[in-house]
Amino acid sequence: MGNTFLNLALLIVFHFTMPTFSMKLTNILTDRSALLALKDHVSHDPGNVLVTNWSASTPVCNWFGVGCGSKHRRVTALNLTGLGLVGTLPPHLGNLSFLYLLDIADNNFHGRLPTELSNLRRLKYLNFGNNNFSGEIPFSLGYLPKLEELYLYENQISGSIPSSIFNISSLQVISLSDNMLSGSIPSVPLDLLSLESIDFNSNNLSGHIPEDMFDHLPNLKELSLYGNMLSGSIPVSVFKCKKLQSLHLALNQLEGNLPVEIGNLSMLQSFFIGGNHFQGEISEHIKNLIFLWEFDCSYNNFTCV
Ligand SMILES: *[C@@H]1O[C@H](CO)[C@@H](O)[C@H](O)[C@H]1NC(C)=O
Ligand SMILES: *[C@@H]1O[C@H](CO)[C@@H](O)[C@H](O)[C@H]1NC(C)=O
Ligand SMILES: *[C@@H]1O[C@H](CO)[C@@H](O)[C@H](O)[C@H]1NC(C)=O
Ligand SMILES: *[C@@H]1O[C@H](CO)[C@@H](O)[C@H](O)[C@H]1NC(C)=O
Ligand SMILES: *[C@@H]1O[C@H](CO)[C@@H](O)[C@H](O)[C@H]1NC(C)=O
Ligand SMILES: *[C@@H]1O[C@H](CO)[C@@H](O)[C@H](O)[C@H]1NC(C)=O
Ligand SMILES: *[C@@H]1O[C@H](CO)[C@@H](O)[C@H](O)[C@H]1NC(C)=O
Ligand SMILES: *[C@@H]1O[C@H](CO)[C@@H](O)[C@H](O)[C@H]1NC(C)=O
Repeated sequence: MGNTFLNLALLIVFHFTMPTFSMKLTNILTDRSALLALKDHVSHDPGNVLVTNWSASTPVCNWFGVGCGSKHRRVTALNLTGLGLVGTLPPHLGNLSFLYLLDIADNNFHGRLPTELSNLRRLKYLNFGNNNFSGEIPFSLGYLPKLEELYLYENQISGSIPSSIFNISSLQVISLSDNMLSGSIPSVPLDLLSLESIDFNSNNLSGHIPEDMFDHLPNLKELSLYGNMLSGSIPVSVFKCKKLQSLHLALNQLEGNLPVEIGNLSMLQSFFIGGNHFQGEISEHIKNLIFLWEFDCSYNNFTCV
């Protein structure tokens, strides 16, 4: 009786652990084949770095730009910045399940961002800046539960900003500037207490800046939205961002008065609102901003006093 129960219990335990176990059955060979797939997708390697260094006869953890965990010897970091690489990203990159750092900035990777990137559950740092990626930002990028820094600046990325992006509570920096993003800025559904910097400048974003956006960003220090097609007025919630040091809203279609609450942004150092349709008087509360050293309100309809 006791034995039967034990067997049954074991069977249940076995039954429930089996799928989990098989999912974890990846090892350094999985990492190796993912990196070799990346090497295969590089069509031009001007310094012959991957060609000569990523050789089958040397251990993966010794390959250029590859970092491994000291205990488990799995690939945790991949940094191939500035090598002039031309190529695309294979879906296999999503198999690097221990990766926390992925930096391929300043190359000439093109094509779409693989949706499989969302499998990188440990990823904290992703930098694809200054490449030639096109297509849309996969919605699933918002499923990266530990992401802290996301850089996709200076590419050819189009489509709208997926609402999932503001669903990552660990986010500290997000930079999507200098792309071809359109549509409106998604709303922020939850408090992003770590977010310090948002950079969406030089895109084709339109519509209003969400009214309650800044209710959820109490620690924001930098906001750059210049060079878009944003309309409407400056949301009053932005004046709750007491730590804001830099606010760049120039070259949009924004209108309305400059609210007196501008005086609440006591840490403000740079403030650019030129090239919009603001009107009225420039609030004298701006004189309260003792750290302000860059201010441009040219090309608006302010009345001089
Ligand atoms: C590959 O690059 C690493 C890091 O720069 C270096 O230590 C190693 O000797 C290189 N290996 C080969 C085979 O070139
Ligand atoms: C990647 O390597 C480059 C060049 O060595 C370095 O400047 C950069 O900081 C590294 N990226 C990260 C995220 O550490
Ligand atoms: C890795 O990813 C690719 C594509 O996403 C897949 O085809 C392959 O079977 C995966 N697994 C291993 C162990 O390489
Ligand atoms: C970037 O990709 C576009 C096509 O999407 C191509 O016309 C352009 O030449 C590429 N730029 C560079 C620097 O390779
Ligand atoms: C945000 O995450 C929650 C749970 O983590 C999920 O229910 C919701 O659908 C997500 N929303 C978006 C827009 O991704
Ligand atoms: C910018 O977006 C508008 C729609 O809001 C569209 O009509 C226009 O073609 C877009 N321009 C570029 C350069 O993508
Ligand atoms: C601006 O500061 C005043 C005085 O501290 C406060 O009453 C007001 O609620 C603040 N406004 C905003 C939008 O934070
Ligand atoms: C300034 O106001 C005038 C009159 O209302 C209007 O015609 C003009 O387009 C406005 N200029 C800007 C830059 O908003």
